[in-house]
Amino acid sequence: MTIPHSIPTSEGLAAIGGPPPGLPGGLPEEALLSRLAGEFFALLPSGAPDAQLPFGPPPQPPQTEIALGNRAPALAPLPGTPHAAPDEAVDAAPLAGRAANPVLGVPEAHAAALPPLAPPPAATVPGAPSTPYYFLGEASAWPSQADPGAPEHIGPGRASPAPGTLAHANPAQEDRITARSFGLPGEAELARLLGDLDRGQRSPSPASNSGPGFYFLDPAVEQQVPAVPAARAPFDVHAVRKDFPILQERVNGKQLIWFDNAATTHKPRAVIDRLAYFYEHENSNIHRAAHELAARATDAYEGARSKVARFIGAASPEEIVFVRGTTEGINLIAKTWGVQNVGEGDEIIVSHLEHHANIVPWQQLAATKGAKLRVIPVDDSGQVKLDEYARLLNPRTRIVSVTQVSNALGTVVPVKQIVAMAHAAGARALVDGAQSVSHVRVDVRDIDADFFVFSGHKVFAPTGIGAVYGKREVLEDMPPWQGGGNMIADVTFEKTIYHGPPTRFEAGTGNIADAVGLGAAIDYVERIGIDNIARYEHDLLVYATHGLLGVPGLRLIGTAADKASVLSFVLNGYTTEEVGRALNEEGIAVRSGHHCAQPILRRFGLEATVRPSLAFYNTCEEVDTLVAVLKRLASGRRSVR
Ligand code: ALA
Repeated sequence: MTIPHSIPTSEGLAAIGGPPPGLPGGLPEEALLSRLAGEFFALLPSGAPDAQLPFGPPPQPPQTEIALGNRAPALAPLPGTPHAAPDEAVDAAPLAGRAANPVLGVPEAHAAALPPLAPPPAATVPGAPSTPYYFLGEASAWPSQADPGAPEHIGPGRASPAPGTLAHANPAQEDRITARSFGLPGEAELARLLGDLDRGQRSPSPASNSGPGFYFLDPAVEQQVPAVPAARAPFDVHAVRKDFPILQERVNGKQLIWFDNAATTHKPRAVIDRLAYFYEHENSNIHRAAHELAARATDAYEGARSKVARFIGAASPEEIVFVRGTTEGINLIAKTWGVQNVGEGDEIIVSHLEHHANIVPWQQLAATKGAKLRVIPVDDSGQVKLDEYARLLNPRTRIVSVTQVSNALGTVVPVKQIVAMAHAAGARALVDGAQSVSHVRVDVRDIDADFFVFSGHKVFAPTGIGAVYGKREVLEDMPPWQGGGNMIADVTFEKTIYHGPPTRFEAGTGNIADAVGLGAAIDYVERIGIDNIARYEHDLLVYATHGLLGVPGLRLIGTAADKASVLSFVLNGYTTEEVGRALNEEGIAVRSGHHCAQPILRRFGLEATVRPSLAFYNTCEEVDTLVAVLKRLASGRRSVR
């Protein structure tokens, strides 16, 4: 990857003795740069260029740029040096593990040093039908419920609950909630309730292509479910919760219950410590300056880019552009690729589910260019209608931009199919992953998206950092968006030569520390295991759906077969604001309002909903408390805890 480690500026040259004679300005020559770099390193305290530098030998000529950064060993402090991470940064890591591997002496090592969690088996059952569970691409090879050898993960010396009971149903027997995949607390009852709902409250959608509201209502689909495995995910929610300091917070005298994860997620200690470590030991601008901290900061930043690439399945870190978040990412694409490729009479397709961030930039582009915005409708469950989508595609379609998970309803959208159909029509496809990356495994190459965008703060990373993935060949053809430092190879008053992607799209000083924090968040999620997270959250969502449907007068908005995290609802006799306030009094945080997705709420005849949204640190007990408050509201009572 060509990262533009900048040629020294005049200040930089002054710092190392000023520009040599014969270099009045303009670009120094390669040989000269190499010599200056060599002289600089020779002046460092060791006297020898590489003897004590934790990041190895200095760059060797010939090279065109001083490349201090992007050398991975820079993050490998020598044991005992002040650069090693403070021990409290690895509070959950066995120290022996660290000592045995001094290279892992920085907070990234936290995750790597944790005891391994058994990953869910990836093997497929030969001949088994594929599972309808959205989070499993293949049939599960987990042992069946009847399998006496099925492992239980409920803590040492504790009896496992009977099949079909809730893991937390008997607190005397069990104090750790480990949601059971496929054991699915209350699922049969939920199916019955939703069946009733289908017959009454929910109006059928003749044009729907998504079948009944939930997959387990469809006997044909039910048949396809492989022998129900009893094994529960190796996931201990109470252990996980200890990683998130803010979950101990009290609000209005009550323990905080954070059900506003679709708005933002909380940060584990590993991320908080990583940020502190950056500012204590690495803080510098990147890609520029010939000094140690610039090297450390550049390594940390570029390391984070590689982690993002790996996390979403990109072919290379060069396909990852750091931005402030999803909104900025979509704007970047609309204002670069869009301006270049969308013309008068062209068409842009979005779905009815979109967040305003995936509507407004396209509307602005369409208005500027005289193009049209077309909208894929949804059925009454909140799933997109693929048959209608097929009818919208035509040779004027330039781009299809859809969310992977709806922030307002929780619908998991069949993006792979949508992208394939866009490509078949000759259009590009963008997938908005803001609400998906923290809940389901994302593989951009499998989806085959041309663009994928997400925000770090929704995946346990800091705010103000996010990423745009673009296929290399697409990014290479795109013009820059903002102009300035970092994104240029050469500037004269007549002409500027830009760098290639990704730095072409990263003008100015970016959010370096928070990008590093995003890398730490990804490490953390990968340690827990995104499949474990998806499985646990699926069960919790089913459990919560069941609970909410038991509240008199509650109408659930969004009942698609595939959903993640979100439970939008309205409650008879209360405004959404009143419900939000009542929940807040009990320490429960939810979003109430239009969720920056007014068109989809209006599709359901509403201006606002109450929206609890789950993450893997939420528990069945928290859901019980939510349901109890709502039942109390529904019955007109005042206080429940
Ligand atoms: N997009 C965020 C949400 O859905 C802010 O709440």
